[in-house]
Amino acid sequence: MKMPDMSDLASWQSIDRAHHIHPFTDQKALRASGSRIICKGEGVYLQDVEGNRYLDGMAGLWCVNVGYGRQELVTAATRQMEELAYYNCFFNTSTPAATRLSQLLAQVTPDGFNQCFFTNSGSEANDTVLRFGRHYWALKGKPEKTIFISRRNAYHGSTVAAGSLGGMAWMHSQGGLPIPDIAHIDQPYWYHEGGDETPEEFGIRVARQLKAKIRELGPDRVAAFIAEPIQGSGGVIIPPSTYWPEIKRICAENEILFIADEVICGFGRTGKWFGSEFYDLKPDMMSMAKGLSSGYVPIGAVMMSDEVADTLVANGFLSHGFTYSGHPLACAVAVRNIEIMLNERLVERVESDIGPYFQEKWASLKNHALVGEARSIGLIAGLEMVKDKSRREKFPTTARVGLFFREAAFRNGLVLRAIGDTVVASPPLVITHAEVDELIEKLGRTLDETERYVRTL
Ligand SMILES: Cc1ncc(COP(=O)(O)O)c(C=O)c1O
Repeated sequence: MKMPDMSDLASWQSIDRAHHIHPFTDQKALRASGSRIICKGEGVYLQDVEGNRYLDGMAGLWCVNVGYGRQELVTAATRQMEELAYYNCFFNTSTPAATRLSQLLAQVTPDGFNQCFFTNSGSEANDTVLRFGRHYWALKGKPEKTIFISRRNAYHGSTVAAGSLGGMAWMHSQGGLPIPDIAHIDQPYWYHEGGDETPEEFGIRVARQLKAKIRELGPDRVAAFIAEPIQGSGGVIIPPSTYWPEIKRICAENEILFIADEVICGFGRTGKWFGSEFYDLKPDMMSMAKGLSSGYVPIGAVMMSDEVADTLVANGFLSHGFTYSGHPLACAVAVRNIEIMLNERLVERVESDIGPYFQEKWASLKNHALVGEARSIGLIAGLEMVKDKSRREKFPTTARVGLFFREAAFRNGLVLRAIGDTVVASPPLVITHAEVDELIEKLGRTLDETERYVRTL
């Protein structure tokens, strides 16, 4: 079968329409409109088959931390495939790539994290965390500790366990989720759920829901609390300052594991290597993916505290793993990716240079008529588009303001995501000052267009 010419958008769309069911997409609407077909990436820019250029303010899906088109990663992948395209880590074997990556992860993660388990995605990492967390307590002589507490509107992935751990009701409604022994408490989303409380009061109150939930379920039944340091897909929800200290205290008092989902926050996004360091969380396990390979190849990992890892190891056989756990290609690329981050001091750059610059520019959007709140940390940001700023009042969902914004941004050569009516950004960590200016200028222009659209409603 002949492939279309690269620039033949209509043919690509027709093939896509006929054969490709897309993730997290309104399939009917997509088949009517046709897909955008992206064919190139360089630095922070993408290009579609018609030659349109976009500044990718999302780093793909929060993952292309070192930017597109890095030849070093291509070389690492090519070398590894030439030498050893595949071998597994079952049967008492490993590969230099997997071994080296485990060592590098021990180097860049906080003290006390020295051992990892490889997966192929963030979802698999969170499925792994669920099994390991329950198994850990069984090995400690407490097999009845099986319940995981998570938060409403959290996102931990799409597999059965990860989708259950996530707190998105619209996901649970498809495919019979959640599985048993998962409970949810409220999210620390002050802007829309804080009512008349100050952010600090609200932070304490929602954190204490964890204590109440543990009491309700029984501390002898609860295995773990899992959370993203900053909720990404929920709308870049940055918790009030009081939230994490209170959660930490409650976890410590109640003999439960604390699991940080670092799939978005890990690998420099907050200006620290991990979101757990930004908030001083000291978790027992961390799930990671995305920035681990800058999205160049699929790979995830679970990093365990020495206490958790040593407990699992002491028991001997661990009945868990994937054909591609520690895939040499993925590990070789991830190793090179981390080396680039270390050599170019990308995390430090986010903390003390490009991060503060981006945050200042982002905060200036607060003056726009549509914007109720402009929040950011490192290179992750959220912007609330609201009907009434003074009352923090949302637009009706039928107005589809976020969707209008997202499509208008594309027309303006900018990729950003809208979660409901919250605009979110997470650009590659290599973004320059001039590119931040361009992002903010295009974003401002798109907000103006969205405001004009809102007036027609
Ligand atoms: C916080 C978080 N955890 C887990 C996942 C799932 O990762 P994956 O899509 O690689 O399965 C995501 C994906 O967006 C995420 O944002």
